[in-house]
Amino acid sequence: MADLQTKVLTADQCGVNRAATILSAGGLVAFPTETVYGLGADARNGHAVASVYAAKGRPSFNPLIVHVADLDTAKRYAGFNDLALSLAAEFWPGPLTLVLPLTKNHDLSELVTAGLDSVAIRIPQHPVAQALLNAFNGPLAAPSANPSGRISPTQAAHVIADMNGKINAVLDGGNCTVGLESTILKIEGSKVSLLRAGGVSVEQITNVLGQGIATSSDPKTPQSPGQLKSHYAPKAQVRLNVGAVKDHEVLLGFGPDCADAALNLSPTGDLIEAAANLFSYLRKMDALALDGIAISPIPMSGLGLAINDRLKRAAAPRP
Ligand code: TXA
Ligand code: MG
Repeated sequence: MADLQTKVLTADQCGVNRAATILSAGGLVAFPTETVYGLGADARNGHAVASVYAAKGRPSFNPLIVHVADLDTAKRYAGFNDLALSLAAEFWPGPLTLVLPLTKNHDLSELVTAGLDSVAIRIPQHPVAQALLNAFNGPLAAPSANPSGRISPTQAAHVIADMNGKINAVLDGGNCTVGLESTILKIEGSKVSLLRAGGVSVEQITNVLGQGIATSSDPKTPQSPGQLKSHYAPKAQVRLNVGAVKDHEVLLGFGPDCADAALNLSPTGDLIEAAANLFSYLRKMDALALDGIAISPIPMSGLGLAINDRLKRAAAPRP
């Protein structure tokens, strides 16, 4: 990606409105939350979400947290049972993320959830995050605003040091008070599991729930959310780096030389466009091809790493 001119916006109403305008146009804006600075993008805009992965240089598509202004907005995207509602009532706004079932008619980009049927959602407490979500009036996907593998930023200066030229703007709201990422809880029916320890302690949570929660020392709990096996896998066999398509296969193309592709991730060979289309096109291909999906080679540069990582999982032998 060509270098951008990263603006530092003062967190007054004028700066907040400018940030919301940039986000509405599909741009990337880092903003303060009480935990760490998030790198925000419109969660409904696949191209914007793909740009987040590109700016962070993430080698894989970990699902992202969706930030919303209030519970009514959260309910558009996530199904809340009584346990989820009691946690939301106690800890929102605040440093708690809930992983809940994704609603049917949501309009989130599939890249946000990495094709999962659950969504991680939270209402941040920081007044600047609140002001931005209200001005933007929609869901913001936001991972921590650091390059992959680097420490999470708790000041606008940290964001600039790491992300200058890669994002449109940073909204400077001073220091983050918690300084530690949000606690992530997954709720499945009556089962509550800790996916990441963070700003709200396990004791605070069990006090509210009146029941224990599964933590990672418990072998039944998934260790790292990014390694969940439940990623969407097509039913059809998947073959990668395909030159010649076999009779029973349907081609998912990439780039200009794929005239006979059923779908093309990016006819111009743009990796950000390809990432934005990846999960929904895999689903569409699955509906078309019961026997086999052939996929054109995708270059191993930029977002190509994450795309190839995801495709390798789709092509791996099934259990
Ligand atoms: O405090 C925070 O949570 C910060 C601020 C910006 O809100 N955000 C943050 O995002 O830490 P990130 O992307 O660095 O971490 C999100 C975590 C990842 O470990 C991801 O795998 C997990 O949330 N996650 C997201 N969606 C999930 C899902 N549907 N199921 C399981 N884990 C999920
Ligand atoms: Mg992070």
